[in-house]
Amino acid sequence: MSNKIWLMEGLSSQRDIIQGMKSFAGKMRTDITVYASHRNERNEILSVADFSLAEPKDAEMRLPFILSTVAEWDINAIHTGRNCLWFENHRKEIEESGVSLTTGASGPQWLEMADDKVTFAQVMEENHLPAVPSLRINSIEELQHSLSHSPFEGQQLCVKPVTGIYGMGFWRFDDNASSMDVFNYPEKRIVHPGQYIEALAGTPAFTPLVLMPYLPGPEYSVDILADKGEVLAAVARRKEGALQHLENSGEAFELACACARAMKVDGLVNVQTRNNNSGRPVLLETNMRPSGGIGYTQHSGVNLPGLFAFHKLGLMSKTEVIEMAKNDFVPATVRSVTDVIGYSTHLTNRLN
Ligand SMILES: Nc1ncnc2c1ncn2[C@@H]1O[C@H](COP(=O)(O)OP(=O)(O)OP(=O)(O)O)[C@@H](O)[C@H]1O
Ligand SMILES: [Mg+2]
Repeated sequence: MSNKIWLMEGLSSQRDIIQGMKSFAGKMRTDITVYASHRNERNEILSVADFSLAEPKDAEMRLPFILSTVAEWDINAIHTGRNCLWFENHRKEIEESGVSLTTGASGPQWLEMADDKVTFAQVMEENHLPAVPSLRINSIEELQHSLSHSPFEGQQLCVKPVTGIYGMGFWRFDDNASSMDVFNYPEKRIVHPGQYIEALAGTPAFTPLVLMPYLPGPEYSVDILADKGEVLAAVARRKEGALQHLENSGEAFELACACARAMKVDGLVNVQTRNNNSGRPVLLETNMRPSGGIGYTQHSGVNLPGLFAFHKLGLMSKTEVIEMAKNDFVPATVRSVTDVIGYSTHLTNRLN
C-alpha cells in the first residue's frame, strides 16, 4: 500500500482538511501522500498538498482525467466535496480502477434527499428523528395564505429556499420590522412579510421555499466521520454568538449521529440542529460533505480529516478510530478570526 489520498475540488475547507491529514500523519509518524486538485487556480489550497493537479473545467473530461490520474500516480483513495451526484453516478467506473471513492453518501438517492430540505425533514420524522417543522411553499398565494393562517400557531415564522447553501435566502418575518431594516441591518435577516411578498411579486420565477417556525437555538453544527452509516467519530460545535463550544455528548450530538446513521452517510459530513421553544434539538439539515468549519474541531484533540484518511488508507481499523476519537477528546471553545496567509503565485508541486 502506497498511502496516497486524492482530495478533489471541495468547498471552502479543502485546505484545512489537507493540513489536518498532514499534521495527523506527522503525529502518527506514518507518511501519507496527499494529492489535491481544483478547477480553479486555488493555490492556497493546492500548495499545502504534496502534489497538485488542475481539474478539467469540462465535466465531459472528468472521468478520463480521474482514470488516467489514478493509473499514473497509483492513487488509493479519492475524496470529493463537490459534484457529488456526478461522482455517485460514476462510482462503478471510478472504483473499477481500484481506487476507493468517498462522496459523503452511499448512493445518489441520499444526496437528492439531503438536497431537498422539506423531503429531508419528512424522511427524518418517518425515522422518528425530530426535524424542524417544514412546509413546502410553491407560490406567492400559498405563502400569503400560510402567513394569514399560520400552520405554526403562536410562533414566529421564517423561510429559506428548499435547496440552497451558505444560508442564502433565510429570512425571519416580523410585522414590526421597518422597510429600511433589510437595508440597514441585513445581517439580522428580519423582514416585514408585506415587503417580502411585494419583492416576490416583482420576480418572474418563484423559487420553492420552506416555511418554518423560528427556532430560538442554540444551534449545533456536528462534524461526523462515518463509514457507510456507522459513526466512527464526531465533534459538535455549539454556536453561541461568536464562540463555538466543542462537545462530544448531549442530546443534539446524539440526534446528529442518529441522523447520520439513518442517512447511511459515508465519509466526512455535517449535520445541523437547533433547539426549539421547548429547548429540545431538532434537525435543520445535513450537508453530505465536510463543513466549512471542520478544521475548528481539531482544537478538541480529535482530528477528523486525519482519522478519515488513515481509515480510508487502511492504516487504522474502525475500532482504532472509534477509540482514538473517544480518548483524545477534550472540550474546547474556539472563535474564528479573519487572517491572511502568504499566497504562492507559482506552484512547485504541480503535476499537470
Ligand atoms: N427554523 C429556523 N429557525 C431559526 N434559524 C434557522 C431556521 N432555519 C435556518 N435557520 C438559520 O439559517 C441558517 C441557514 O439555514 P440552513 O443551514 O438550513 O441553510 P443553508 O443555506 O444550507 O446554510 P449553510 O450551507 O450555511 O449551512 C442556519 O444555520 C440557521 O442559523
Ligand atoms: Mg446549514
